[in-house]
Amino acid sequence: MCGIVGYVGNSPCVDRLVEGLRKLEYRGYDSAGVAIIDGGTISIRKSEGKIDRLAKLIASEPVEGNCGIGHTRWATHGRPSDINAHPHRSGSVVVVHNGIVENHRTLKEKMQARGRKFTSETDTEVIAHLLDECVSEGLSLEMAVRRTVAQLQGSYAFLAVSETEPGTIAGARLNCPMAVGIGEGETYFASDLPPMLAYTREVLFLEDGEIVVAAASGIRLTDFSGAPHVRAPQHIDWSPVMAEKGGFRHFMLKEIHEQPRAILDTLAGRMLPESGEVFFETLPLSPEKLCALKKVIIIACGTSWHSALVGKFMIEGLVRIPVEVDFGSEYRYRDPVVEPGTLCIAISQSGETADTLAGMREAKSRGAVTVSICNVVSSTIAREADGVVYTHAGPEIGVASTKAFTTQLVALYLLALNFAQVRRSLTPVQISDHLMELSELAPRIEGVLKHEEAIARIAKKYKDASDFLFLGRGISWPIALEGALKLKEISYIHAEGYAAGEMKHGPIALIDERMPVVVLCSQGESYEKTLSNLEEARTRGGRIIAVGTIGDTELLEKTEDAILLPLVGRMSRAILEVVPLQLLAYHIAVLKGTDVDQPRNLAKSVTVE
Ligand code: G6P
Repeated sequence: MCGIVGYVGNSPCVDRLVEGLRKLEYRGYDSAGVAIIDGGTISIRKSEGKIDRLAKLIASEPVEGNCGIGHTRWATHGRPSDINAHPHRSGSVVVVHNGIVENHRTLKEKMQARGRKFTSETDTEVIAHLLDECVSEGLSLEMAVRRTVAQLQGSYAFLAVSETEPGTIAGARLNCPMAVGIGEGETYFASDLPPMLAYTREVLFLEDGEIVVAAASGIRLTDFSGAPHVRAPQHIDWSPVMAEKGGFRHFMLKEIHEQPRAILDTLAGRMLPESGEVFFETLPLSPEKLCALKKVIIIACGTSWHSALVGKFMIEGLVRIPVEVDFGSEYRYRDPVVEPGTLCIAISQSGETADTLAGMREAKSRGAVTVSICNVVSSTIAREADGVVYTHAGPEIGVASTKAFTTQLVALYLLALNFAQVRRSLTPVQISDHLMELSELAPRIEGVLKHEEAIARIAKKYKDASDFLFLGRGISWPIALEGALKLKEISYIHAEGYAAGEMKHGPIALIDERMPVVVLCSQGESYEKTLSNLEEARTRGGRIIAVGTIGDTELLEKTEDAILLPLVGRMSRAILEVVPLQLLAYHIAVLKGTDVDQPRNLAKSVTVE
């Protein structure tokens, strides 16, 4: 995710930049740095680790100036290290960047062929080189930015300074946030509002496809072709705490709403829907090994274990390899049988969960090849696995996992399609259809988020229930488990997730008129059967809250409350269905007044047994 800051004006800016980075640390914290331009020379201070380390470095090697840029990093391409920390320099240009340059490999190869030397493993360095090529030809920084953005694909918000134009900062935005704070004789830049609120409340939010150039004298805004844009700044009256949460009341709600963006970032650069191709940077399996795979075991804990269950449906359904799923805490002690040709996939948001790590080590020691799906770059599980697929959800702060879950599902879906491509269990046309679905997922989730008010009303109606039942079949069964877990975690209401067909073997005895029953009843395979289960719950007095498909009037007649989603394929359905359940849990918890972001007794990362 990363955070960027910038300042140009008449005051010394190092302390402001460092303080600004501290306020953006929630966006990433594996390395940080600043670049200060003074008298035509740019000085860089950067280091791996949190902002405190950067502050100590600056204290021991001071820099000063009235124009500078800074960055706090959440690694995506290239592990956290001093070299990969931003800012990145090429010749007289220095850059900080948030986002993913999807075509960085192609650009890098072309520039290497022109004799450019790269020092880091980041995608960002290509921006610095592209800009420097232009500046070296005598172009202004603004022209250099214009020419550079024409070559970039992906998502970015970046700021650049150049020794050829001291006192100027130029930047651009496409699919990543950037705010520009307008002060008196000074301009602030930041990925988010907190760094600038102490200095100015007049803010311009850069729009996609805009370039900004600022000097102490003021700012100039254009589109990518250079046509001027004129817009008045907005007055912001948020408190600093509100600003950190992007105006949302809790990090969890912010993270629920970040899911479309997080999904786009997880997909970025990994698929070509038209030709039906899927790519991963580092997979330890050659096509031969992948074709020889006999079994997959997925190990995880908590919400990630629910992803694992969905992954079983995806891999078995698309690749036709048997998949076993286990809790890390069980797998590590159950003396598992690992035959040759076994792949172990460890799923972990934090990459540090002790049981998942131990389970993965156990599988590895018995001869399995290991791949991890992690959100935190260079975490222990990511490092120890033979290969890693990163979800690019950005830091997740709310203890109850939301965007990490949906991006894990996207990563598993892509992984299954990649395996299907190599093993030819699907045709390129079938893969292409799945990839088209994936590319439509983010806007569809945007659509689901629009149901929030209706879901908040449902939450109000049922908030005093002491028990909830969540039912689903097939791929929706793990989503029912996840819906129940979300509710338990943050509202402290007892909730059970159940495979709908198993209801008759026990939980049905619990159902009476006080029991809300959330039924995942989207149209598709086993729809009729789930509808019958819904009917069984209803005739016993259960109060039905259904998640179904738009246009399903039959379902509406049978339920007290329903949230209807677009008709999509089986795999995408699981990803869509969880969103209303996250919102339901969230709004019930808010009404009950619990500590939503830090629920009692829970921890974000459990590094003990
Ligand atoms: C804790 C967290 C859960 C998370 C689980 C696994 O219990 O509270 O939200 O799902 O750990 O964490 P991991 O980082 O391995 O996904």
